[in-house]
Formats: sequence, structure tokens, C-alpha cells
Amino acid sequence: MSAVRSYRSSLQRSWDSLTREDRPSVFTMNGREWDLLDQVFAPPHTASTGVAMDLLGLSEARSRPWTGSMLEIGCGTGIIAVTAALAGCERVVASDVNPYAVRNAALNAARHGVTDRVRAVHSDLFAGLPADERFDTVYWHSNFVLAPQDYRYRSVHERAYVDPGYAAHRRYLAQAPDRLAEGGRALLHFSSRGDSTALRSLARETGRELRLLRSVTVPDAGDLVEHMLWEVSDGRTSGGVARGAVE
Ligand SMILES: C[S@@+](CC[C@H](N)C(=O)[O-])C[C@H]1O[C@@H](n2cnc3c(N)ncnc32)[C@H](O)[C@@H]1O
Repeated sequence: MSAVRSYRSSLQRSWDSLTREDRPSVFTMNGREWDLLDQVFAPPHTASTGVAMDLLGLSEARSRPWTGSMLEIGCGTGIIAVTAALAGCERVVASDVNPYAVRNAALNAARHGVTDRVRAVHSDLFAGLPADERFDTVYWHSNFVLAPQDYRYRSVHERAYVDPGYAAHRRYLAQAPDRLAEGGRALLHFSSRGDSTALRSLARETGRELRLLRSVTVPDAGDLVEHMLWEVSDGRTSGGVARGAVE
């Protein structure tokens, strides 16, 4: 396994981000200030959140209006979910398996005056959401590094970095398209730190199709990392009406 894909390097990055002396409690990104709680994935310590926003069309450089509804799985600080609401999304659910992230997203929704549009929910993928709730966009900037199946997380923070046996990715591929409103899109932000061959196998096994919408390669922590925005579908949807910015 290459250095870029080593799960141990990712766990080290998790530890470094948690323990850095300069870890901020407030950071600036995309021209706005954001709260950052302990144990929550820190956007200023990685290129990936900024790239995620750019790939979605939510960055300062590439911002477009959004409409409709969005479910963000793995919201972390809530920066993506709150920015989507500020860009015009009318109903946003910001969910995370990490309870600190859920609190963090609620704080940032309040900081930016969008609590009427952003609901922060504690949920393991879709398990904590009403079974009949549907969205125009379902999105996850995932913990795309594959860890051994028997790896046990040592902190909730590590959940942002690695996925043991890609068990969560398998469930996301299987379940995300079923949470879409008519014409909606299920999206996955993945990277070359992850195992694309394993992801494709999972897509085949779960009967899903992956379509690359955008990719960009950026330097991150000494590596060159390709970030990809995939559409996950059941093969019947053909792009549909993307009410978000990914056109
Ligand atoms: C790479 S971080 C992205 C955080 C944030 N969206 C950002 O871009 O800064 C991945 C997020 O997915 C969350 N996560 C991991 N496994 C999850 C699961 N099974 N259900 C929900 N969220 C999960 C992590 O806690 C983490 O917040």
C-alpha cells in the first residue's frame, strides 16, 4: 500500500490535528468565521474541506445559488451544510455520527443565522433520520481511507479519517440513492488516499453506478492527492434535475 493510502498515516494526521497547539477554536474559511469544537474534523488542517466546497460549487471562487434540500452526512463543523443554506438551500440536514460535530454544526448554523433552515442530527449514516425524508442532494465528504476490518477507533475524531473494511461506504452506496427526491442526486467526495478499486467493487456488489462529476489534484500534507466527486446512482437516473450547484 502506498504512503498516500496508508491508514496509519491517516490516523497520525488525526492525532496531529487533535493535539496541535495551534488548533483554533474559531477559524476563517471561505470569507466567514466558523466555530471548531474539540474532537471535530478541522478544516484548516487539511486541504480537503476547501476542495470539497470547490467541487460542490460552494467556495468563494466557485459559488452558485442552490435551491431545494440537502442532506449532508458527516457534517463535521457544518461548514458545508451552513454554506449550502446561505447559498439558498431551503432545507438542510447536517448529520454526523460524532456528537461533538452535531453540536458544532448547530453552533455554526446559529453563528450564521440559518437555524430555520439547518437541522443538526446525530445519526450513523441514515439510521437516525425519518425513513420517509427525501432530499434533492445527499452528500458525504467521507472518511475515504480504508482501514483493516477489525480496526477499532480510539477516538470519535478518528471516524473522520478511516473506515474499517469500508463498512460505512458499503452502506452509503447501498442506501444513499434511496433517500433521494425525484430527480435528486447522491454524491460522494472520495480521494486517492482511498482505495478506488475497492470502492468500485462495492458499487458493483450493491448494484450502484459511479459517475465521476469532477476531480482536482492538490498538495496536502506533503502528498499530491486527487479529490473526486462521484455521483452514486441505481443506474436508472440520468443526471436528473440537479438543484444544487453540481451541473
Ligand atoms: C472527512 S470528514 C468531513 C467533515 C466535514 N464535512 C468537512 O468537510 O469538513 C468525514 C465526516 O464523516 C463523519 N462520519 C464518519 N462515519 C460516519 C457515519 N457512519 N455516519 C455519519 N457520519 C460519519 C465523521 O465523523 C466526519 O465528521
